[in-house]
Amino acid sequence: MLTLHRSALIKFSIFFLLSFLNGCSQEEAIKTASSTNASASKPNANDNKATIAPPKSLSNTSSSSTQPPGITPAILGNILFNDPSLSNPAGLACRNCHDEAKAFADPGMAVSEGAVKGTFGSRNTPSLKYAMLAPALIGQEGHSWSGGLLWDGRVNTLEEQALMPLFNPAEMNNTEAKLAQTLRQSTYIQHFATLYGENTVKDDTLLTKAAANALQAFQQTDLFKPYNSKFDYVAAGLLKYTEQEKRGQALFRREAACTDCHQGFFNYSEQFTSYGHHNIHTPVNTHLAFYTQPESINPEGKAFIDKGTAANPQLSEAEKNETLGLFRTPTLRNIALTAPYMHNGVFKTLEEVIDFYNDPAQFPKPEVVENRSDLLAFSLNLTQEDKAALIAFLKTLSDDYPADQALQKQLRGKQEALRKTYSN
Ligand code: HEC
Ligand code: HEC
Repeated sequence: MLTLHRSALIKFSIFFLLSFLNGCSQEEAIKTASSTNASASKPNANDNKATIAPPKSLSNTSSSSTQPPGITPAILGNILFNDPSLSNPAGLACRNCHDEAKAFADPGMAVSEGAVKGTFGSRNTPSLKYAMLAPALIGQEGHSWSGGLLWDGRVNTLEEQALMPLFNPAEMNNTEAKLAQTLRQSTYIQHFATLYGENTVKDDTLLTKAAANALQAFQQTDLFKPYNSKFDYVAAGLLKYTEQEKRGQALFRREAACTDCHQGFFNYSEQFTSYGHHNIHTPVNTHLAFYTQPESINPEGKAFIDKGTAANPQLSEAEKNETLGLFRTPTLRNIALTAPYMHNGVFKTLEEVIDFYNDPAQFPKPEVVENRSDLLAFSLNLTQEDKAALIAFLKTLSDDYPADQALQKQLRGKQEALRKTYSN
């Protein structure tokens, strides 16, 4: 295992250097994306969450430019992300499951409801923040597995991923032909012609692929990687942690060794994940609505087991055996905003998560007993104060720390300077 037992000192210095290297170069894209946001969501009779406001961060900046900006894939992607008419029946947009106010996760729901009332998938909706930074899936028989998107890493690009919810019967439930027809009838179809050419508009497959490309471009803007949590300010030397947060960070990095898995090294920034795939013995969530779904959605009924990495149809039988029950380690950025936790939403609070890591024996059985990570082989023996400190630290990973404008500017300056230094 690549992340195993690197010295705390090396980890610490790498983390400080790398956490400054975060690019802030896409501000342009966000600014322009703002201006068309108003047209994003038509209220729809079927949209039970239609009252959700358009993304704030995009709408705020629209007046800053005197010229009307040209259309870009990111702007088009922003419109698509918020459009509830792309589901079948209409009423469910990407943003209904991926709520901007909750780091683009689905607050409070173990699993989200699909466009067809009463349909539910098997997995918890993850945050989309920093998702663009996930490296491609790497793994082969006899080696460790890492990377990819989704809980099991089975797709590599946001473009490839975007078509999955659109056509999943438990999510937006659409078909290529119907989606293409809806797009052609939309008020923004001319943007597809401008960006991807007239021929794209005429062809169902090309048109849906262009939509996926635009959704990817939107999710690659800085709205999805602002790097402005308290952690980022502290890393830049602009704020200080409280004693409790400091203690929490020390536990996270040393005694509790969360960094064996929750520390990045593939990207030029700290993501609080190595993207490694592990079975941590997450307990079964017996309340999961998926178990009682009709056969068309869940053919296995109550016997369903989430195979994790082994659910990837591209793996060989031997690879499936050794990856049964593994999940890609998630980022912990914004973790305080994205409850419930784990691939099946089994834990409602961070307190429960920490109790679980501290003493897994107190919790119900996992879905898959085999392949448990040997990185979890030691007892943490955390005290109540330790647990509270760990949680205080995790809470500093939420974006949009309320700093004044001068401090925000200083942060961006420091991050930009370091990024330049290291790209030379
Ligand atoms: C019904 C709720 C729902 C809707 C609607 C939905 N998603 Fe998701 N999204 C999920 C769930 C659940 C997962 C995790 C699925 C898995 O791991 O198999 C997910 C995962 C993702 C991921 C992977 C993130 C990561 O870090 O691995 C991306 C990207 C994403 N969704 C984008 C979108 C886009 C773009 C749309 C609109 C076209 C959309 N989603 C619509 C529920 C939803
Ligand atoms: C062996 C690798 C490993 C170690 C060590 C580890 N984690 Fe995790 N962590 C994971 C994996 C894998 C998941 C996802 C598991 C799942 O969904 O079943 C996860 C999930 C989580 C989640 C929920 C994330 C979400 O979005 O739902 C939190 C919070 C978390 N870990 C915190 C910690 C803390 C705190 C520590 C140290 C006490 C720690 N982890 C140690 C691998 C690890």
